[in-house]
Amino acid sequence: MTPPAKEHGALIEALTCVLACHDLPEPLPKDPMPLLLEWFEDARQSERYDDFNAMTLATATPDGFPSARMVLCKAIEPTTPAIVFYTSYASRKGRELEANPRAAAVFHWPHAKRQARIEGPVQRTAPEESDAYFRTRPLLSRIGASVSPQSRAIGSRQAIIAEAMRIAASKALGMGPDRPVDWGGYRIMAQRVELWSAGNGRLHDRAEWLRQDTSWTARRLGA
Ligand SMILES: Cc1cc2nc3c(=O)[nH]c(=O)nc-3n(C[C@H](O)[C@H](O)[C@H](O)COP(=O)(O)O)c2cc1C
Repeated sequence: MTPPAKEHGALIEALTCVLACHDLPEPLPKDPMPLLLEWFEDARQSERYDDFNAMTLATATPDGFPSARMVLCKAIEPTTPAIVFYTSYASRKGRELEANPRAAAVFHWPHAKRQARIEGPVQRTAPEESDAYFRTRPLLSRIGASVSPQSRAIGSRQAIIAEAMRIAASKALGMGPDRPVDWGGYRIMAQRVELWSAGNGRLHDRAEWLRQDTSWTARRLGA
């Protein structure tokens, strides 16, 4: 059964609008990283988020059991190309990454109806780089990282906080604790990037880039 002429006209109008309202450039850029950085900066500038840089990070054990949690992306590096986050190397994610150095990350920016996915092998950041970032963290966060064994069983939260209090009150506190040796950064080396932008009628705007050696191949994907 064909739809009534009025409904048919509205459908054509809606589809014409979907066609006109695209977020991804046509043709696709060769390299997705500048566009990813642009979307990241757009989310920052929107001032719509407490943590515009929050992303879901997926890791997996060597035998393929996945796990996921939120972390904060501290850098998008178009030329490396990579994204960077910081954590405890002794945490569950850290242990999984040490045993199986591959990760996937997802950003969701609802203000722009955008999703970005980045996948690839991971590498630890250099110790000096982790030191430099650790020094920029608030004193309380540095004390917290020093006293709380991330992802490990603890006797009581009170005992951890008491230890943080003891350090905070200590005359030897000086400039604050040094970076714990098992705390630092990881770089996800971008090997696959997907940018997704919502379109009406489930006709989303979606593209994937795969990197081999030093060059990217781009293709549009059905949504
Ligand atoms: C918005 C948000 C941001 C977070 N950022 C970080 C982060 O940058 N690094 C980190 O180690 N944990 C971060 N966390 C805590 C993690 O989600 C997680 O609880 C912790 O890292 C332990 O995860 P694991 O046991 O899987 O290793 C964040 C949590 C939220 C909700």
